[in-house]
Amino acid sequence: MPISEAEPNDPLSGDPAEKRTVRDTQSEFSELCLPNDTNMFGNMLGGHVMHLVDLCGAVAAMRHSRCPVVTASIDQMTFLHPVRLGELVKLRSQVNRVFRTSLEAGVKVWVENLHTREVKHTSSAYVTFVAVDASGNGIMLPPIEPETDEEKRRYEDAAERRAYRLAFRGRNGPTPKH
Ligand SMILES: CC(C)(COP(=O)(O)OP(=O)(O)OC[C@H]1O[C@@H](n2cnc3c(N)ncnc32)[C@H](O)[C@@H]1OP(=O)(O)O)[C@@H](O)C(=O)NCCC(=O)NCCS
Repeated sequence: MPISEAEPNDPLSGDPAEKRTVRDTQSEFSELCLPNDTNMFGNMLGGHVMHLVDLCGAVAAMRHSRCPVVTASIDQMTFLHPVRLGELVKLRSQVNRVFRTSLEAGVKVWVENLHTREVKHTSSAYVTFVAVDASGNGIMLPPIEPETDEEKRRYEDAAERRAYRLAFRGRNGPTPKH
């Protein structure tokens, strides 16, 4: 994919010394589980949870990139508990690491029973987004600075996950262009 130069008014061409932190990318999202998004057992559809994960991750990604992003991949997701009709699904995301034109966002999902106030962790996901301009060219992203021990751990782990993803991609794609 070609990589574009930053335009003069592009936020990416702003002060290169400006520090962009993980904290600045942290995002939250919540949604009540309603009948339109459930299966015949009254549980939220897994695909709908993935949609919310994609959105919550994209908000964190755009808080860092300050430009449009597309989803390149979502790592394996497991659903540990159902989200039942009338429960609240809550998501939190942050950028774990920035590579060149792509970055990894981590998204964690919980379900809250609003009657008992019990909260359970239901899923975690890593989503890779690529920053693109209007012509579909990649945009080089500014680096991110992890500050806390937890952010530094996620930053290191993200490099391993990227290597695995790109090795997987090397074996399985990309699909040849027609
Ligand atoms: C994702 C996409 C932009 C990659 O384009 P490409 O021409 O294959 O680009 P490149 O090989 O030059 O890779 C560009 C970046 O994407 C990353 N990337 C590509 N495929 C990836 C994958 N499967 N997982 C993780 N990262 C990936 C590369 O590592 C590279 O990142 P870097 O610049 O930080 O090193 C392109 O495949 C695309 O537009 N896909 C559709 C996106 C979309 O519409 N998503 C919504 C769901 S339909």
